[in-house]
Amino acid sequence: MVMNRRSILITLCLVALLAVGGFVIYQRHQPVPGQAASSKKSSSRAAATQPDTSPTHTDFNKTQYSLTDPASIWVVVNKHRPLSPLNYAPTDLVSVGNGQQMRTEAATALSNMFAGVKKAGYSLSAASAYRSYTTQVSVYNKEVTEYGKATADSESARPGFSEHQTGLSVDIAGGGCSIEDCFGTTAEGKWTAAHAYEYGYILRYTSDKTPITGYRAEAWHFRYVGKDLANEMHTASFSTLEEFFSLGVAPDYN
Ligand code: DAL
Ligand code: ZN
Repeated sequence: MVMNRRSILITLCLVALLAVGGFVIYQRHQPVPGQAASSKKSSSRAAATQPDTSPTHTDFNKTQYSLTDPASIWVVVNKHRPLSPLNYAPTDLVSVGNGQQMRTEAATALSNMFAGVKKAGYSLSAASAYRSYTTQVSVYNKEVTEYGKATADSESARPGFSEHQTGLSVDIAGGGCSIEDCFGTTAEGKWTAAHAYEYGYILRYTSDKTPITGYRAEAWHFRYVGKDLANEMHTASFSTLEEFFSLGVAPDYN
């Protein structure tokens, strides 16, 4: 009888120990709230093949294309950064309509943007796109003759210093405005300013950035830089290439 009671007691203790042990093991294998989501996120990130374009993205490679090679889609041209050679001319120019030409990649992107604006119910055209060195000589000299050198330098690049010479920039017309400030106030101009990055273009000259670019606002001037860079600049809220690439300001010629 005594043995039986002792056995029962030992059995009860063993059962209790097993129960407590089992509960502890069970608890340790339960996910902590919040941990499940983050571990899932990191594993899906590791498996992702698309570039991460979230606002927290920090690993964008800013050196994947040259900023000085005139044939690079990231070339930065400003009053401190002339094209080299000064009379550079692209080799893959194609028509973008209206008697204008651009480099093939930029032209395809422009065509896609024009299709996009059409879906929105508007229409755009290329007022001025590629300009050769000699064309820029005429454009700049005409500006100087009409408005004087200071004004000319605030709205027209000197030959060899214009993005238009790369074949990657285009002055866009729409809503009855062609290379005029009014373009920025039209539905066409607003749509283009808001959506250009989706097609790899940036609005290059805005009024708040004149101290950096050296040019007054040009609501019509868009520069092709490719979707990756345009999207990254949009996400990180950069509007100038000078700031994005930490190149310093270029308000005047050296
Ligand atoms: N209007 C721009 C600055 C150019 O001439 O390239
Ligand atoms: Zn322009």
